[in-house]
Amino acid sequence: MNDAIALRDRLIVALDFPDARAARALIERLGETVSFYKIGMELAYGGEGLALARALAREGKHVFIDLKLHDIPNTVTRATERLAQLGATFATVHGYPQTMAAAKKGAAGSDLKLLAVTVMTSYDDADLKHAGYDFSLRDLIARRAKQAQDAGIDGLILSPEEAAAMRKLVGPRMLLVTPGVRPAGAAIGDQKRVMTPQRAIAAGADYLVVGRPVTEAADPLAAARAILCEIENGLEAAGAQSG
Ligand code: C5P
Repeated sequence: MNDAIALRDRLIVALDFPDARAARALIERLGETVSFYKIGMELAYGGEGLALARALAREGKHVFIDLKLHDIPNTVTRATERLAQLGATFATVHGYPQTMAAAKKGAAGSDLKLLAVTVMTSYDDADLKHAGYDFSLRDLIARRAKQAQDAGIDGLILSPEEAAAMRKLVGPRMLLVTPGVRPAGAAIGDQKRVMTPQRAIAAGADYLVVGRPVTEAADPLAAARAILCEIENGLEAAGAQSG
C-alpha cells in the first residue's frame, strides 16, 4: 500500500469508447471528481485516443495508456519513448523480461511509470498449458512479478484476488493496479473474478481501474463518488490492519 497517493487519484476510469466525442461527454460529466483516465486499444486504434491522451495530460488529468506493449526490444523502447512524450502517467507492457527492460529504457528520464501485465486474467491453468507453458498460473504470475521488480518496473496489473498475495511477494513500494472491480450491487458483465472497491483497496491495491460501473451508470458522477467513498473506507480498513 502506497500511502502518498491522493484519494482522488486512486480511481482510474476506463474510457472504453469508440471515439473521443463519447469519451469527452463522460469526462465533462465527471468534472473535477475524476482525475485519472485509462485509454485502451478501442479508443487508440479508433484513431482519436492518443490525441485525447495528450490533450487530457495538458489539461492536468493523469492518463494511463493501456496498449500492453510487446515486440522486439528496439521497437518497444522507441514506442515507450513516444508514450512518455504524450505526457502519460502509466503505460502497460507485457511481463516478458526483454520487453520490460526495453520499455524501462524508453521511459528513462521521463515521468512515465510502467505497469507489467503478468498473465492475462482471462487465462487459467488449462489455457497456459495449451499455450505451451509448463507453469501453473500462480507460479507464472509470481515469477513474472519478481522479474518485473528486477527490471525496475513500477507496478503490476492484477486481479483484486491476487492483490494480497502479490503485496506480500513484492513488498510495499510496487504499485498494484486492479481492474475487475465492482461496487456492491453493480452488474458483473464479462468479468469473472471481481471484488468491491473497498475490499480491493483493503487487500493492498493502490489504484482501481473501473469501466462500466461508471461509464454505463445512469448517473456516472454519483457512481464515481460512491466508489471514492468505498476507496476511503478501504484505506481506513488497510490502515487498521497495518496499524
Ligand atoms: O468495464 P470494466 O470495469 O470491466 O472495465 C475494466 C477495464 O480494465 C477495461 O478497460 C479492461 O480492458 C481492463 N482490464 C481488465 N482486466 C485485465 C486488464 C485490463 O478488465 N486483466
